[in-house]
Amino acid sequence: MDKIKRLISEKEIKDRIKVLASDLYNKYGKEEVVFICTLKGAVFFACDLLKKYKGDARLEFLRVSSYKGTKSTGKIELNLSISKENIESQNVIILEDIVDTGNTLKFLKNYILDMNPKSLKICTLLDKKMRREVDIEADYSCFEIEDLFVVGYGLDYNQKYRNLPYIGVIEK
Ligand code: IMP
Ligand code: MG
Repeated sequence: MDKIKRLISEKEIKDRIKVLASDLYNKYGKEEVVFICTLKGAVFFACDLLKKYKGDARLEFLRVSSYKGTKSTGKIELNLSISKENIESQNVIILEDIVDTGNTLKFLKNYILDMNPKSLKICTLLDKKMRREVDIEADYSCFEIEDLFVVGYGLDYNQKYRNLPYIGVIEK
């Protein structure tokens, strides 16, 4: 196993998610929300957020891929889809692990908007703002980070390190 330098601790993630869950509840608490977890990266984020969310919530999964190693290929593939009946006329919140170039998010946003949700918001755990190639922003972002390739808490490097409870950077 490579040496990993800790960037965001388990406690910091936990505390931030608690605040996000309560912000979302204050906004949507009166109505049902469909949370969409994007696999595989957002799975820890989605589980921890939903356990703290006090309102009526449904959970759906989507799977897209764009990355090989540490480089985005820019080409997005949909590997697991959602049926329109789960989205139409619903308040939908997409949960992403990280927004980097923004290509994935743009694809996801258009894919869900085509199903006519009542509302659509995007929550991301991490945001690399300076890497953006397309003009898109998350509505809720937990942590803004520098241009570093990070792993842990669901995020991988060639499928490794998702199981770290914190977010870190591989030390070469
Ligand atoms: P984008 O389409 O360039 O915004 O890429 C978004 C996707 O690339 C994310 O959902 C991640 O799956 C992956 N990704 C981007 N940056 C990182 C990183 O630093 N570590 C691990 N995965 C990343
Ligand atoms: Mg992702």
